[in-house]
Amino acid sequence: MTKTVLFSAPEASWQNYKPYLDDLFEKAGLDINLVLETDAPQDVDYIIYAPNGPVKDFAPFTNVKLVQSLWAGVETALTNKTLTQPLARMVDPGMSEGMADYVVGHVMRHHLGTALHVAAKPGEWLSHWAPPLARNRTVGFLGIGALGLYCAHKTAKQGFNVVGWSRTLKADDVVKCYAGKDGLRDVLAQSDILVLLLPDTPETTNMINADSIAQMKDGAAIINPGRGPLIDDTALLKGLDSGKLSGATLDVFRVEPLPANDPYWIHPKVLVTPHIASETRLETSAAVVVENIGRGEAGQSFLHLVDRKAGY
Ligand code: NAP
Ligand code: GLV
Repeated sequence: MTKTVLFSAPEASWQNYKPYLDDLFEKAGLDINLVLETDAPQDVDYIIYAPNGPVKDFAPFTNVKLVQSLWAGVETALTNKTLTQPLARMVDPGMSEGMADYVVGHVMRHHLGTALHVAAKPGEWLSHWAPPLARNRTVGFLGIGALGLYCAHKTAKQGFNVVGWSRTLKADDVVKCYAGKDGLRDVLAQSDILVLLLPDTPETTNMINADSIAQMKDGAAIINPGRGPLIDDTALLKGLDSGKLSGATLDVFRVEPLPANDPYWIHPKVLVTPHIASETRLETSAAVVVENIGRGEAGQSFLHLVDRKAGY
């Protein structure tokens, strides 16, 4: 029997996804009617979802087996009280690759002290300092899930000592893993560069605050491609101004787009990027969507289901 899949993401992405998904559904032997809109919500079997897509009220979709997010972060989806159906976040190998490019690139920028030379005035020959070797520096990852662990491995390949922190303790051949409050303290104390790849949940809000900054190494740098609320902005600005922290690369903010009068824009130690660290890639994410719907049709458990209690 033909199944109906509703595509509820911005219409612009429909043009790209539609032929890809139709082709992959056919190759997977799935009989799917992929639609952009419907008058019969009770007949929809699956929803492909983005928070900026048209469906806001999920209540009429009484027979939906899975809402598959195209986004990795699901904090917006979780605030929608009508979305009670099983929800899967996006775990996309292409997004991980892009995130690793961003993270390794900015780790290298902080490691090499690039900002110092970019800001140098003509004739300012800043030869008093050369970077240490990567193997003598530690990069810490708060969050070693799909994105964090992939980025941590790529960073280790670059030669850095790499440590990571998660809610549940992990074991990894390359990344020294920590969990819990003591583990957080250990990671903060060791990291020359700290990368935030945590989800936005009640437990992770203001994870970087005056207290955690005080526990960090003098001169450490922070890279945040996770979510804006992970950082207490006042505390970060203080940490930068006092000289405790050497710099910050920020991709995500409490308010996006970041307002023009936000102090981050003009802070000499801050690089603002506009939530572009990585995005869902068409080819790889379409394969994930089709695999998960295929699993539903085969009576198998879905991949990457959101744990609503944990908030991610
Ligand atoms: P994920 O696979 O769910 O991994 C999340 C990691 O955070 C896991 O290691 C998890 O621990 C850890 N964590 C969650 N709550 C914690 C807590 N209270 N204490 C300690 N660790 C905690 O997520 P992901 O796919 O890697 O994505 C991470 C985030 O990146 C997303 O939620 C999104 O906000 C952000 N993101 C940003 C962009 C961008 O362009 N800027 C793009 C995509 C995603 P466990 O391993 O124990 O579960
Ligand atoms: C982007 O920020 C995502 O959550 O996919």
